[in-house]
Amino acid sequence: MRFNARISTLVSIIYAASTFVALITPPAFADVQFRDALDDSPLDLSPIKGEVFTDQVKKFHETGIDPYNGNADAIAIGKDLFENNCVACHEEGATGGMGPSLVDDVYTNARANTDLGKFEIIHSGASGAMRSFSKRGITQDQILHLIAYINSLKK
Ligand code: HEC
Repeated sequence: MRFNARISTLVSIIYAASTFVALITPPAFADVQFRDALDDSPLDLSPIKGEVFTDQVKKFHETGIDPYNGNADAIAIGKDLFENNCVACHEEGATGGMGPSLVDDVYTNARANTDLGKFEIIHSGASGAMRSFSKRGITQDQILHLIAYINSLKK
């Protein structure tokens, strides 16, 4: 009996210690909070099948600012991606059709004002027709190229 009591004391000490460690260990992306654009739950940033995070993606996880902004090569790649995946609803040059314009200052989703918010919308999907592109095989690096392209369209 005494032996069992000691074990259970030991177990509670280990349990308390591990809870304490969990409390003081910062989450993986402590600086920037990524949230699902549909329900505001924490966004699952795990890589999709075959995806390897680039340095730009890792940087973006820390800062929430697209490292490809203003990079002409990245913008050209983003434009191709946009033409293949987005023009059906957002039109050439993202001026808006069935989906809203991405070049004006009026946003359906307030979060679309920032790189982080655009990322959340493209990654998780927004309401209705704007579905999750990460579920359709678009990598986080490609999302950053798309955002650099969209940002380049703003005067
Ligand atoms: C099937 C149509 C469709 C496609 C394809 C589509 N979108 Fe959308 N998109 C929408 C709709 C509709 C909305 C408005 C969503 C809402 O009401 O919350 C939207 C919203 C957005 C927003 C937020 C804009 C705002 O004003 O709040 C961004 C950014 C965006 N889309 C980017 C993209 C990108 C980048 C692609 C391609 C990878 C893409 N969309 C493909 C329909 C689409």
